[in-house]
Amino acid sequence: MFILAPSLLACDFSALESEIKKVYINGEGCEYLHLDIMDGVFVNNISFGLPVIESIRKVCKIIFDTHLMIINPVRYIGDFANAGCDIITFHFEACENGREILKTIDEIKRYNKKCGVSLNPGTDISVLAPYLDKLDIALIMSVEPGFGGQKFIESSLDKIKDLYKIKKSGGYKFKIEVDGGVTLENAGKIKEAGVDIIVAGSSIFKSADIAGTIEEFMNV
Ligand code: DX5
Ligand code: ZN
Repeated sequence: MFILAPSLLACDFSALESEIKKVYINGEGCEYLHLDIMDGVFVNNISFGLPVIESIRKVCKIIFDTHLMIINPVRYIGDFANAGCDIITFHFEACENGREILKTIDEIKRYNKKCGVSLNPGTDISVLAPYLDKLDIALIMSVEPGFGGQKFIESSLDKIKDLYKIKKSGGYKFKIEVDGGVTLENAGKIKEAGVDIIVAGSSIFKSADIAGTIEEFMNV
């Protein structure tokens, strides 16, 4: 079993509320909604920000799984927490040093939110070692962050498998999340690698039958 987290980045932004309701039908359906926040500096794209999150928070209770692709994330943790985010994940590469990472983790916990750290495809999972006992989520990017609709990087599977082994042998509680290029075709092997949360943007929101696609995902 895994949690499916549709990424809002691939939805029709002119109809946010009804798009969300397609994946979260009266509280049924997907448990998480993945929110990609991009600052145009950490990644070469700008997505959406706090006012959008505050607005959609008013129309649904789905868990907001927030993926911050912004530099120096500690500055904005309070704002995202107050806007209604439930899970706040930031990038290892967006922080200057280990002290900043610890400060950001502590800040997320100070707001009683679940805390995640994300790794770019080129970053080794060993960098997470000092933080594993503090994390609720370790997010493995399976595309370069910045855009939806890219192709899944196959070597991410080995990273997930290695992280899963570390999690089991160390008795850690964090969930493993994968993000980028997930389709109905590759979801099976991703699931088998040991993930707990699968993010899918284009393959859900660009599908002609969203409810049917979600069901197919849950049965891979
Ligand atoms: C990419 C984002 C992803 C993206 C996934 O930077 O972090 O969450 O929305 O989109 P797909 O599933 O289309 O690759
Ligand atoms: Zn994401």
